[in-house]
Amino acid sequence: LKVGVLISGRGSNLQALLDAAADPAFPAEVVLVVSNVPNVTGLARAQKAGVATATVNHREYKNRLDFDHAVTETLENSGVEFVCLAGFMRLVTKEFVAHWHNRMINIHPALLPLFPGLDTHQRALDEGCKLHGCTVHFVRHEMDSGPIVGQAAVPVLPDDTENSLAIRVLGAEHRLYPECLKLIAEQKITISGNRLIHRHTSQ
Ligand code: GRF
Repeated sequence: LKVGVLISGRGSNLQALLDAAADPAFPAEVVLVVSNVPNVTGLARAQKAGVATATVNHREYKNRLDFDHAVTETLENSGVEFVCLAGFMRLVTKEFVAHWHNRMINIHPALLPLFPGLDTHQRALDEGCKLHGCTVHFVRHEMDSGPIVGQAAVPVLPDDTENSLAIRVLGAEHRLYPECLKLIAEQKITISGNRLIHRHTSQ
């Protein structure tokens, strides 16, 4: 499976995907990393791994639709079949979501459907949650929604700060994202409505 990863910054989840894909036995290959922000750390990570990069700067497009078209064109010119959003901080248009329907996943730093949107760690602390975590899900038009591929939970500890909790969740993200991509690339799941069906290997 030829994968394109969309980023906006640090790219630590991208790194987890690159590290997993470095194993020849991994069923997906990262063929392109696209950032909407120039010169971010994630682009350097891709270059170091020998993966092609592109910057599609949203500031150079007059609207979201034009920007999203440029991103899709860039991905398709590199033969991308499947998209992973990894800290991509742009809302995408419904046209973009439709184009990549069931071919695009995102990682979100909360146990969805709890805490869609931003500031998830602070909100989990404010609510007194004892468990928090991350979710990999197929992308639908409504932000941070769509069929859930996998989730990982971490404990919220009494002395946690937003930062200490974010670090613990991030560790879980880095394990979860490659695992979920592997499931998809091995065609072990199918989507039915908003649910994911795990197929048995005997089928
Ligand atoms: C991660 O917490 C991810 O869940 C969220 O944005 C952050 C990106 O971090 N969507 P990185 O760029 O992968 O290091």
